[in-house]
Amino acid sequence: MNPVERARAGFLAAFGTEPEGNAFAPGRVNLIGEHVDYNDGLVLPMPISTGTAVAWGRSDGPEVEAVALDFAGQHDRFVLTGLTQHQPADWRSYLRGMASQMAHRGIDPGGLRLTIAGSNPRGAGLSSSASLCIALGRAISAAAGTALAPVELAKAAQLTEHDWAGVQCGIMDQMAIAAGEPNHALLLDCRNLATRQVPMPSDWAVVIIQSGVTRGLVDGHYNARRRDCEAAAAALGLASLRDADLAMIAAAKLDPIITARAAHVVSEIARTVAAVTAIEAHDLAALGDLLRASHASLRDQFEVSVPAVDRLVDLANAAIGNSGGARMTGGGFGGAVVAVLERSAVPGFLAALEHNFAQQGSTLPTIMIEGTGGPAAGNTP
Ligand code: GLA
Repeated sequence: MNPVERARAGFLAAFGTEPEGNAFAPGRVNLIGEHVDYNDGLVLPMPISTGTAVAWGRSDGPEVEAVALDFAGQHDRFVLTGLTQHQPADWRSYLRGMASQMAHRGIDPGGLRLTIAGSNPRGAGLSSSASLCIALGRAISAAAGTALAPVELAKAAQLTEHDWAGVQCGIMDQMAIAAGEPNHALLLDCRNLATRQVPMPSDWAVVIIQSGVTRGLVDGHYNARRRDCEAAAAALGLASLRDADLAMIAAAKLDPIITARAAHVVSEIARTVAAVTAIEAHDLAALGDLLRASHASLRDQFEVSVPAVDRLVDLANAAIGNSGGARMTGGGFGGAVVAVLERSAVPGFLAALEHNFAQQGSTLPTIMIEGTGGPAAGNTP
């Protein structure tokens, strides 16, 4: 059963009645532009075919009641007045945050019943939490008989991460999910939230390989990287690193770690622009070089990769050769690898990976084949 069917069946089982509606939001994979969104940079994510479904129905009285079908039916029940964070931060934090964010925007359907089911891998760098937030926002809006514009929905979800889950994330994930279209990468300028849909060539495939090393951004490393970038911008007298360049960073003679962080951000923004040019020119070799350079910078300068992911990236790049490339994707410290290659080369690529893992006596990690003629993403499951 897909998440929409599971949410619906779960609703019937939990509340004894059919839901009035079902909302869905995909996960996302970032092709390039990593750790630059909170520096006002440019990013290039795309929605994926897994996602989160929320079945909803209105009820009498002021209470919101919700059941998380993927967490052994854990539930939450609250009224909006005096609503507090759930401790420790978990799916309930996102639910309470989104309910409160929507109410701040005048969207309050009153009594509401919800069941939540998802297919995004969690802690894999594929934005399961932003997917949950956007699906909840869509469900709450639909129950109130309205719909929020994608940018407003994304902002509500970002504030939920900040204020209800304690992660000072940028807005890439939320915008990718709220505004992304199937089979397109979304070029997003995080300074002014301008977007451009970049069609992915139909003979290319986007392959996501999960490292199996899961991570939570709440563990502090993510916020620490953000502070490094803010320190760099402040030392350069800039509002954000978007306006920095490599010469300016070298001349400032900053602390070596801060210099490395800033150099990553500046070069990664340039790589994102170049990646759009490569995609539009149907130049997989050029895109592959950019993906490999992005990974090296994240590993060596931004220091957000881990050895298991580095090995997977090397393995994927060796199997792909010059027709494409691979890198870590998402916030880092584990998570997933994204590879872009010829669609026709996918079976050979998978066989090479499988062979390599078998030689090491291990089994192939979970792999998702996305994009470009693959299953529809966007707003459908
Ligand atoms: C996480 C955050 C995003 C972004 C990426 C790194 O996914 O939620 O805002 O910063 O990490 O690019």
